[in-house]
Amino acid sequence: MTRPLNIVVLTGAGISAESGIATFRAADGLWEAHRIEEVATPEGFARDPVLVHRFYNARRAAAMAAQPNAAHVALARLEAGGPHRLLIVTQNVDDLHERAGSRNVIHMHGALNGALCHACGERWPAPPVMRHDAPCPACGRPATRPDIVWFGEIPYRMDEIWDALAEADLFVSIGTSGQVYPAAAFAQTAARAGARTLELNLDPSALSHEFDEARHGPATQLVPDWVAGLMG
Ligand code: APR
Repeated sequence: MTRPLNIVVLTGAGISAESGIATFRAADGLWEAHRIEEVATPEGFARDPVLVHRFYNARRAAAMAAQPNAAHVALARLEAGGPHRLLIVTQNVDDLHERAGSRNVIHMHGALNGALCHACGERWPAPPVMRHDAPCPACGRPATRPDIVWFGEIPYRMDEIWDALAEADLFVSIGTSGQVYPAAAFAQTAARAGARTLELNLDPSALSHEFDEARHGPATQLVPDWVAGLMG
């Protein structure tokens, strides 16, 4: 019987690409069509909240229309099937991990299905179409924003993430270009704490050389194969 492992999986936009959700840095990606400063910073939101809500309303609609793919499903099987302990830390703001059945998921960059009051900090479930002048259910002020971590803001639940990386036996990075910190530092942090590290990505990321092993191809093939190998 295999020794139960503490596994931390980091996912990025690449795991949802085959569900039809655009990645960020591809030639036809989200950041090619939009200026990051306009739609993904607090300053951009302060300047033009209508534009920012339009951008996230469209992304929320795309996420709601998408279905989890074989990679999301394989990770859910790994969590449910034991004997290993699995934490998914995702940079993605869609809910495809949860809809595939994963339970132990940290959305470090926030979530499209959340609304946040930037006046009082209240959080509530996002309506399908969010308006900047919708009143906060707690304080009543028209200060509704998507519960998304923008550039210049601090990702969520970092203390839990660093603790999990310190205790990991295996760290696996799936579908991320490794260009955004702090997530880009996770492989090195886990390795320094003694974890084996594995990259599963369509093509070599900026950080491929830092991993003990890298496998390249579509997530819907690589992830089920890796999970099958681990579960025996
Ligand atoms: N299977 C596996 N990997 C894929 C697939 C696929 N089908 N399709 C694309 N990829 C890979 C790409 O090769 C790329 O390396 O997924 C990666 C996606 O990279 P990015 O678009 O940069 O997305 P991500 O790494 O998640 O971005 C991180 O940056 O813009 C911010 O907040 C945003 O959370 C996001 C963060």
